[in-house]
Amino acid sequence: QPFSYDLNTGLVAQLQVSGESAPQLEYTTENGAPYTNPYDAWKIGSNGPLLLEDYHLTELFGSFDRERIPERVVHAKGAGAHGYFEVTNASFCKQYTMMDMLSEDGLKTPVTVRISTVGGETGSADEARDPRGFAVKFRTRKGILDIVMNNTPVFFIRDPSKFPYFIHTQKRNPQTNLKDKDMFWDFLSANPESLYQAMILFSDRGTPYGLRHMDAWTGHTYRWIQTDGSFHYVKLHFETMQGVKNFTNAEATVIQGTNPDFATQDLYEAISNGSYPGWTVYAQVMAPEQAENYTYNVLDLTKDWDETVPKVEIGKMYLTQNPTNYFAEVEQAAFSPSHIVDGWAPSADPMLQARLFAYSDTQRYRLGVNHIQIPVNAPTVPVANWERGGHMNINGNQGNRPNYMSTMSRLGLYNRTYTLDSHQQWTGGAVQSLSMVTEIDFSWPRIFWNTMSDQDQQNLISNVVGHLGEVVSQEVRERQVALFNHVNATLGQAIAAGVGVTSIQSLNFTYGETWLNHTVYSTDSTLDF
Ligand code: HEM
Repeated sequence: QPFSYDLNTGLVAQLQVSGESAPQLEYTTENGAPYTNPYDAWKIGSNGPLLLEDYHLTELFGSFDRERIPERVVHAKGAGAHGYFEVTNASFCKQYTMMDMLSEDGLKTPVTVRISTVGGETGSADEARDPRGFAVKFRTRKGILDIVMNNTPVFFIRDPSKFPYFIHTQKRNPQTNLKDKDMFWDFLSANPESLYQAMILFSDRGTPYGLRHMDAWTGHTYRWIQTDGSFHYVKLHFETMQGVKNFTNAEATVIQGTNPDFATQDLYEAISNGSYPGWTVYAQVMAPEQAENYTYNVLDLTKDWDETVPKVEIGKMYLTQNPTNYFAEVEQAAFSPSHIVDGWAPSADPMLQARLFAYSDTQRYRLGVNHIQIPVNAPTVPVANWERGGHMNINGNQGNRPNYMSTMSRLGLYNRTYTLDSHQQWTGGAVQSLSMVTEIDFSWPRIFWNTMSDQDQQNLISNVVGHLGEVVSQEVRERQVALFNHVNATLGQAIAAGVGVTSIQSLNFTYGETWLNHTVYSTDSTLDF
């Protein structure tokens, strides 16, 4: 077992294959034979040419030439660490879920966490204006549970078919290979369900102070399931114990230039100095009947749950150990919302449903079909099924156990006491608006604006003006200004003045209305920009 975990401290033991714990410290070739003069290519005479028989040199290049693996298509730049999650309120959790990990107060589950920016490449600056990803791998006694979150309670879109193209607009222009503000705002202004997340992004929360001073949210509605098959909707919120701290736009700009790895360094140094970062974990729970009558569609990722759904503490999470090897323990980590355990299940949220496919799919490409066998990803409990073979199958391929449901040598089959239900067959109005933009889409942006301090409002305005003001297309600027204005006139007018828009269009988001000669807001499937 390459990793071992101390459940009391959550510490991850060093990789057995690391340099320090390897039995011999002599320099060797790949096949483990001692080797002299690694800094000496075999040549004819003192200058060469080189000899093909210099197997050390060909191995060296064979390895070096393949060092890089594909970076994550999103969230490529990230930092990671290990630690543990500890339950503090099992009696509350047990009312709603059979999750083993939440069943006893004081129970500690080892975790690996990776926190990332979204749009930039692996070498990009940590302090870019961007949402932050926050992925947690829980090594539970009943299998791996990955909870893959962001540092925002909502997302820009609610239809997964938009996701790859939305991401394209955050990446580089196909011709110039530059980040392109016109692409970015063109998309946002044409898809106004993005407003709440866009406003969070352009507040100072878009440039958090490192990775320790921000919260994380599941965003999506998940389901907690009981032994009898009944379920409750649930969202989790990880609240930083370090206090929320953000950079202003000016500070973040300076740090991007002076130390592009600021957040990575800050996390690493905090842990190595013994200032273990912690998060208090809260759950919000909603019965299905309550969800059907709730103001907002609980399957709509662009909307949050308000204070009518109380947050209850369920546990605490601490990061206590830096990786011994970044590549092995962070770059090769594969988090997927499809890695679930009994008692935790997805809801019918279409974005979440799409993610259930996308993560393991990209990981089969990025790391290989057997990425789950890589030590950082491998369950700490035995895996027994009929999957076999594939590239880099390194765990003995499940030995001589039959590779089908054999009558001669049975695998014990887990006896689930309930059948999964089809909870999404609702008729209530609260779940029917996912494919259109209506007036209700402006309520969360308004709530957000109204809860900001004067200073935060001013920073939001100047951050948007600085960015949107560089958009070349007048049409895009006008369209986005009209949206901000529809949230709040003060906000709209201030941005209009800053980005050179003199006349602000007033909007009407009744179902079926057209706007700017496009009927896009009546149904997403007729999008024709
Ligand atoms: C990473 C797809 C929405 C959080 C990724 C990756 C893909 C992806 C392909 C790369 C994974 C890897 O290479 O290991 C999608 C799709 C989405 C979506 C198709 C919507 C349809 C979201 C949302 C959240 C989120 C809504 C947060 C609530 C993350 C995080 C990572 C990630 C935290 C980085 C995981 C890590 O650190 O390895 N996403 N994503 N994504 N995504 Fe998403």
